[in-house]
Amino acid sequence: MEYIVRGNIPLNGEISVCGAKNCALALLGATILTDETVVLTKCPHIADVDNMLLLLKKMGKKVSRNGQTVQISGKLNTVNVPAEVATLLRGSVLVLGAVLARYGQLTLPLPGGCAIGARPIDIHTDGLKHFGVSVEYDDKGLVCKGKPQPSAFKLRFASVGATENLLCAAVLSQGQSVLYNCATEPEVVALEQMLVQMGAQINGVGGSVLTITGVQRLSGTVFDIIPDRIVAATYLSAAVASHGKVTVSNCCPQHLSAFINAVCGRYDVRLYNDAVTLNADRAVSDYGKVVTAPYPGFPTDMQSLLLSLAALSAGGTTKITENLFENRLQHNADQLALMGADISVNGNTASVRGQCLFGAELCARDLRGGAGLVVAALGAEGTSAVRGVEHINRGYVDLAAELSSLGADIHSVGLDK
Ligand code: EPZ
Repeated sequence: MEYIVRGNIPLNGEISVCGAKNCALALLGATILTDETVVLTKCPHIADVDNMLLLLKKMGKKVSRNGQTVQISGKLNTVNVPAEVATLLRGSVLVLGAVLARYGQLTLPLPGGCAIGARPIDIHTDGLKHFGVSVEYDDKGLVCKGKPQPSAFKLRFASVGATENLLCAAVLSQGQSVLYNCATEPEVVALEQMLVQMGAQINGVGGSVLTITGVQRLSGTVFDIIPDRIVAATYLSAAVASHGKVTVSNCCPQHLSAFINAVCGRYDVRLYNDAVTLNADRAVSDYGKVVTAPYPGFPTDMQSLLLSLAALSAGGTTKITENLFENRLQHNADQLALMGADISVNGNTASVRGQCLFGAELCARDLRGGAGLVVAALGAEGTSAVRGVEHINRGYVDLAAELSSLGADIHSVGLDK
């Protein structure tokens, strides 16, 4: 499937943000910690979440969905994560901590996901080893044995997934565990809050040091998935690229502060409790120097949006350094060059001189990069085709329909793979 996008039409109107993919995936993994019913509301209808629900179902959980509400209950009937689903989504790694906490063993085929560079899980496994779990690899993938025992562990990097897994691993282990250098992304904090609601004892919620006192069991709960900050930033970027005026509602502006400072602050922006209104009816010269970093730094997941906006800016130079996923710059830089962009990539830094872009045939190779290409197409003169929409569908409910609702000329052609 591909998107056909005619650019240079200012977007206008209000658009609401869906629940966050990366929050949904972490919370779904954590449902394994209890047999009782966990109800998650605002659960987005996207491919990665559907695959995670399928994975839970294949492992024995009862799963039902009614609109944006999903209900998960029951026990697992296997600790072997099914390869045919695990390899479809990177988020499958997020069952690791919870399965070990409940069942003390697990086989996990190596996860799939985006082509954004090496995605090691050594921090997850080092932490588990610290918790006394035996970790080996065989031809089926990762094989772990043993219930996690209380311990203290410092993550060598504030990894989102490793924090989530180690937290889940610790909540049922009898005694006190301390995790140092935890990720503080809003999706991680939401997981901490849901676990507390389920009866977990966690001190330091929201911070980088978590002290966990294991409890015997966790109970069911009802929890709202937080708004997707990357989707919100995508709509704001679409407004900037097209020189439009857009209100993004049902979002959390606080979670967007790095993006708002680097991008929106250069335009006329209004912040509300749960909305951002951006009037981008003029071009800015550049976006200065931006470096991706763990929260509250500028998110790697918004880097390809910024790359497109920098390429479309009015003649100035923006420098973007990608510090998290090494392959995230080059592919989009090459694609934007097809539109006439002036980008040179040196190591993990792109130097982008803004200018007018023209429609071209583009190819998305990963989810966030794909959204970046759509944004570039919205700001380009003429018509672009963006192939690889299946990557975009992993994280956006229906990007073409959402952008059309703001007046964009975008439609999909061909069949989804
Ligand atoms: C999460 O991935 C997100 N995915 C990613 O979103 C996001 O880009 C990333 O966090 C950073 O914010 C989910 O939440 C499902 P990390 P995760 O562990 O947990 C290195 C999207 O498009 N590292 O914080 O895998 C790693 O290589 C996606 O929605 C190790 O070296 O990210 C990277 O450089 C893609 N060893 C850095 O840490 C490890 O064991 C951050 O990765 C783990 C990570």
